[in-house]
Amino acid sequence: METTASVRPFGTLESGEEVREITLKNEALSFQILTFGATLRALFVPNRSGEMTDVVLGYDTIEEYMARDGYLGATVGRCANRIAKGQFSLNGKDYLLFCNDGNNHLHGGKVGFSHRVWDIGEVTDTAVTLTLRSEDGEEGYGGNMTVSVTYELKGAGLYLHYEAQSDQDTLCSLTNHSYFNLGGHDSGDVLKQKISIYAERYTPSDAESIPTGAIDPVAGTPMDLRTPTPIGAHIEEDFWQLRQAKGYDHNFAVNDTVGTMKKVAEVTCEESGISMAVSTTLPGMHFYTANYIEETGRRGKNGAVYYPRNGFCLETQQYPDAIHHPNFPSAVLKAGETYDHTTSFVFGNLS
Ligand code: BGC
Repeated sequence: METTASVRPFGTLESGEEVREITLKNEALSFQILTFGATLRALFVPNRSGEMTDVVLGYDTIEEYMARDGYLGATVGRCANRIAKGQFSLNGKDYLLFCNDGNNHLHGGKVGFSHRVWDIGEVTDTAVTLTLRSEDGEEGYGGNMTVSVTYELKGAGLYLHYEAQSDQDTLCSLTNHSYFNLGGHDSGDVLKQKISIYAERYTPSDAESIPTGAIDPVAGTPMDLRTPTPIGAHIEEDFWQLRQAKGYDHNFAVNDTVGTMKKVAEVTCEESGISMAVSTTLPGMHFYTANYIEETGRRGKNGAVYYPRNGFCLETQQYPDAIHHPNFPSAVLKAGETYDHTTSFVFGNLS
C-alpha cells in the first residue's frame, strides 16, 4: 500500500532548528504530530454522524508550543511527573535535577523531551517513528539514552509504542500528555463526559502533589471511578485530595501485571457519540482535568479558547516519584535493558 503520510514545515525555533508536522490517515482516523516534543497536535475521530472531530487540544503555532506550559499533546520524559526536591540516589550516586515546579522536578525538567526536536525515523503506511538522543547529564540525569516513540494507526486505534535504552542505570517514564475532549477540542468543558478508571487504588499526594507513599483504596471516595461517572460528578466535592489539586491530578494504580496490555480506562461523550478505551502495559495512569489552564482562558487551535476542565489527560506512566518509594513499581531503566511500553487509545461510537 502506498504511504499516506505527508510532512510539512511547522516553524523554526530560535536555535534555527526546523520543526515539521507529519500527518497520517487510515480509513478510520487521522493524526498530526510535530517533531517538537513528538507532540500529538490533532487527532480526528468520527462522531456518531461520521463527521471527523478533533479530540485533542493544541495550538496553531510553534511559538505557542514553545512558550506555553501545560505540555499539550507532548511526549514527556525522561521521567514523567514529579520527583520530590529534584534529587535522588541511584547505585550510591546522588543526582540533582532541575526544579521547574516549585521545589520539585516535573516532566523531565527545564527543557525535557517535550521541548526538544525529535528526528523522523521510519515512516510506513500505518506508522511514524520519532527518535531522540538524550545525553548523559541532561537535566541532571545520568546515562546516554536513545529513545523512540511510534505513533501507529490500527483500525480505529492509535497505538503509542515507546522504546528507550541507556548506557547507565537511569530513570525512565515516558508518557503522552494529550488533553482529550471527546466532544471536540473546542467544545467547552468535559464535565459531562463519563469516565471509568479500572483501578482499585490510587496514590494520594501532599500539598505539592508529591505522593505520600500510600496506595489507598478508591472505595468510598470521589476517586472511585470504577463504573462510568461524569467527570464533573464529584470534582467539586470537599475531599482534600481534590481540593489541594483543584480537581483530579492523581495517579491510579491501573496495572499490576506490568508489561502486559490491560484496558485501564474508558470515556464516553453522549453529545458527539465518541467513546475511547485506553489500554497500557504501564503500571500507573495519571488522571488530570486541566486544572491549571488559566481561568481567563488560553488561545488554542483555530480560534478556540481553552479553560480549566476543557480537557482531560490520561497519562499512562510509572508512578510519580517512584524512586523515593520502594513500595511503588520501579522506574529504573537498567543499563543495556530496553524500556518497552505501549499505550493505545481505541475509538468507537455510542449508538
Ligand atoms: C501534572 C499537573 C501539571 C500538568 C501540566 C500534569 O501531568 O500532574 O500537576 O500541572 O501536568 O504541567
